[in-house]
Amino acid sequence: MTEQADAATLTIALDRADPEPGYVQIYAQIRELILAGRVAPGSRLPSTRALAAETGVSRTTTLAAYDQLTAEGYLENRVGAGAFVSRDLPDTVLAAPPAGRVPSPAGTSPAPAKVDPPWTRPRTFDPGIADRDAFPLDEWTRSLLRSHRALDRATLFGRGTGGFEPLREAIAGHLRAMRGFDCAAGQVIVTSGAQEAVALLARVLLRPGDTVWMEDPGYGAVRRAFSVLGARVACIPVDGEGFDLEQALASAPGARLAFVTPSRHYPLGMTMPLARRLALIDWARSEGAWVIEDDFDSEYRYRGRPLASLMSLAGDRGVVYLGSFSKVMFQNLRLSWLVAPPALARDLVRAQADIGAQVSIVAQPALADFIATGRFAAHIRRMRRLYAARQSHLVAEVARLADDLLDVAPQDGGMHLIARPKPALARRMSDREASERARDAGLTIVPLSGFYAGEAAEQGFLLGYAGVPEAEITAGIERLAGCLR
Ligand SMILES: Cc1ncc(COP(=O)(O)O)c(C=O)c1O
Repeated sequence: MTEQADAATLTIALDRADPEPGYVQIYAQIRELILAGRVAPGSRLPSTRALAAETGVSRTTTLAAYDQLTAEGYLENRVGAGAFVSRDLPDTVLAAPPAGRVPSPAGTSPAPAKVDPPWTRPRTFDPGIADRDAFPLDEWTRSLLRSHRALDRATLFGRGTGGFEPLREAIAGHLRAMRGFDCAAGQVIVTSGAQEAVALLARVLLRPGDTVWMEDPGYGAVRRAFSVLGARVACIPVDGEGFDLEQALASAPGARLAFVTPSRHYPLGMTMPLARRLALIDWARSEGAWVIEDDFDSEYRYRGRPLASLMSLAGDRGVVYLGSFSKVMFQNLRLSWLVAPPALARDLVRAQADIGAQVSIVAQPALADFIATGRFAAHIRRMRRLYAARQSHLVAEVARLADDLLDVAPQDGGMHLIARPKPALARRMSDREASERARDAGLTIVPLSGFYAGEAAEQGFLLGYAGVPEAEITAGIERLAGCLR
């Protein structure tokens, strides 16, 4: 073994040119020293304050690194005495060569023996990410195995457009139960995400230069996709009731298509009232235009009854409905769907054949099985309870720990809340600056200004809570308040 260093005087050097955040660099260096046996189990680490002073970073950064190492079992904290290299590190870990320098976010890996997957961004407050620990992986694996064994070769070797028939039927059943509208399986088209849906719709419904209305702020990925496909995207400022048809007609008349999130505006969260829904449908019918209803996470509603979807109000004319499994299953599944009136659905399936089907057959039968056996609905019910509790916890913790900095109001559903800076904070820094500081402390705080097409009308942050356990929410808000003060 190499000579052991005194852990209390570790030399940690930060590389300012390295794109990794400061806390990841500190985390990785201490982890490597431990794994290489350079610091002995039981030895004491410098205080977070001393290490911060020595390395020229904020204490929030060193705290985040220590939290991560503690969560993964490399360090243990003794009250009043500081942080120590864990005495319980298994021999296998100590003998192993240093693994990749990439941590998973705090609290996610129970044992240090695990080699973490490549670094993504920390999950604390990352919006739109479902809870990974609560996902019933065993049940999903059983659905995968069972359904794959039952597949016939004709299905594997046949044409994939439209989607796997039993999955289309299962989605139609899910919509009947959850969203109260009836559609035939032939109206459901399985896609690989919102971008594929946009590509199909643009191909069938738009000519180059046609105007598409989008909400501002809104979903940037779709805005960019329409632009790349040759549409003229007009971003219409939303008000307290969401998309405003009057304003759209006044500022960008003659649109062929409106892309809206009426159930819960993305990212602000308001619900479009019935009068506006009916007006939009009327507009589409009288102009021969289309409303695209993006209903990407309406399964997560915690209070009150959902308003009828545009699709259920419009019947067979004027509306295309988009849904996704990214929020209720996991986003790398890459499975979503659209529902269109029958004639348009046939055209869209032809367009899918033209572009080339993008969805693999492998996961579709598993998902059909997962839905048909009731596991999907049970998972949604469990996640609803979990996320509702997390949302309440987040609201309470912001009020308790960051009341001088942020305002957060509860919402009826969703996976994130909007935190608005109080005037004193807003005067000191922009939401982008604040999110960079938070990033160095291991938090993903997405700035609201990034959702605007042009100049932001409002500053704020998205605080995702769905994938963040309550203890991590508390620690995250403490850390965030530290960075912002
Ligand atoms: C507003 C909105 N619509 C739709 C989606 C669906 O995404 P996917 O392409 O993963 O199905 C998302 C996912 O983040 C979203 O935020």
